[in-house]
Amino acid sequence: MTAPETDIETETETAGTDTEALRKRALTSLTTARDRTTLLTTCVGEPDLTAQHSPLMSPLVWDLAHIGNQEELWLLRAVGGRDAMRPEIDGLYDAFEHPRAERPKLPLLPPEEARRYAAEVRGRALDLLETADFRGTRLTEAGFAFGMIAQHEQQHDETMLITHQLRKGPRALTAPDPEPAPPFTGPAEVLVPGGPFTMGTSVEPWALDNERPAHPRDVAPFWIDTTPVTNAAYQAFIDDGGYDGERWWSPEGWAHIRRHGITAPLFWRRDGGQWLRRRFGLTEPVPPDEPVVHVCWYEADAYARWAGRRLPTETEWEKAARFDPATGRSMRYPWGDADPAPEHANLGQRHLGPAPAGSYPAGASPLGVRQLIGDVWEWTASDFLPYPGFRAFPYKEYSEVFFGSDHKVLRGGSFAVDPVACRGTFRNWDYPVRRQIFSGFRTARSEAC
Ligand code: AVJ
Ligand code: FE
Repeated sequence: MTAPETDIETETETAGTDTEALRKRALTSLTTARDRTTLLTTCVGEPDLTAQHSPLMSPLVWDLAHIGNQEELWLLRAVGGRDAMRPEIDGLYDAFEHPRAERPKLPLLPPEEARRYAAEVRGRALDLLETADFRGTRLTEAGFAFGMIAQHEQQHDETMLITHQLRKGPRALTAPDPEPAPPFTGPAEVLVPGGPFTMGTSVEPWALDNERPAHPRDVAPFWIDTTPVTNAAYQAFIDDGGYDGERWWSPEGWAHIRRHGITAPLFWRRDGGQWLRRRFGLTEPVPPDEPVVHVCWYEADAYARWAGRRLPTETEWEKAARFDPATGRSMRYPWGDADPAPEHANLGQRHLGPAPAGSYPAGASPLGVRQLIGDVWEWTASDFLPYPGFRAFPYKEYSEVFFGSDHKVLRGGSFAVDPVACRGTFRNWDYPVRRQIFSGFRTARSEAC
């Protein structure tokens, strides 16, 4: 059978490219981000804001002033042409000048001053937003700089939530748990057809540099898990001796877990016959039907080999998430082109963890793949590399300096990501050893297997 003729260069045009709609969206996105930042930095006392809860993370008060400083740099100075408000602090909040482990020792703004600085920047940024020319330079075209800064703040809100998870002591945050879901009874895997599709985007107004440009990719047919790998499935790997020998592990992965004595996901602890986990200051039994979270790339890779499968490549992941077989086009999200709503996906820190596997049927892809967006970041097999035609914008330190084989790509976003910073094309990356992040995975296999 011949496939209907499709224009693989075409991706769906995004909704809401109209200037006034984008201006409104920028205001809402900036405000939503600041509300979250405020919550994450007022739910604990001053000592918890200035302390370093893990050498992997900054003190919360660093994130707070860094959020304000990036907004000052890109909105007030680059877009608005203003002078620096406090040039002496730029260096303190430059992520490349000081690695995270060093940040507590810097003469950082104390919490009250950091709050005042971020608020002052925000006031001026909102004044600028009212009159900014959304048809001006590349930086302001479609409100890009405002969208980029809202996404930047939301990314740090996820970072700060990771710091909260690492923090010892009683829970400071609350949120309702996701709705319980009946056990998922659909097919365990879905066949994604081979052939060309459009990867990346050239039309999404606030897509970041590494998601661009749209370009054709060809993939062989493959099977992909309908849902992320669950705690129950992961426990079966542990119970089968998954961590006891090198059989399933890459050489680097095996060396890593031996060196660090890793025998289970981060925050898990065995208590007699059952597994417990610590989640934002509460210890609870590991729920069998939830996607596994806090595993590193090496663990995901070993599990997949044990299961007789492999991690999907980044290209496969995006085809599963965006390809609409009915039209041949790539959509913004698995469910279509509509912005994420609560019935589509677990996003935005509405919950403090992933929802049971099989949740959000309204967010499924046309082929029936679930929870591609939200719940847990999904490790892919791929290194973080530029797309053909990539151009760093507006600064090399967002993506370009991270390209190469040191970082693996994660896709889809976690429960901690806001919708503004998550879409079918969004790319995240981290070292293969990292597992303090809200990382899980699903597996795949080639059709021929
Ligand atoms: C895209 C999540 C890898 O947190 O290092 C924040 C996002 N870049 N500030 C990170 C980011 C600059 C970035 N990640
Ligand atoms: Fe940053």
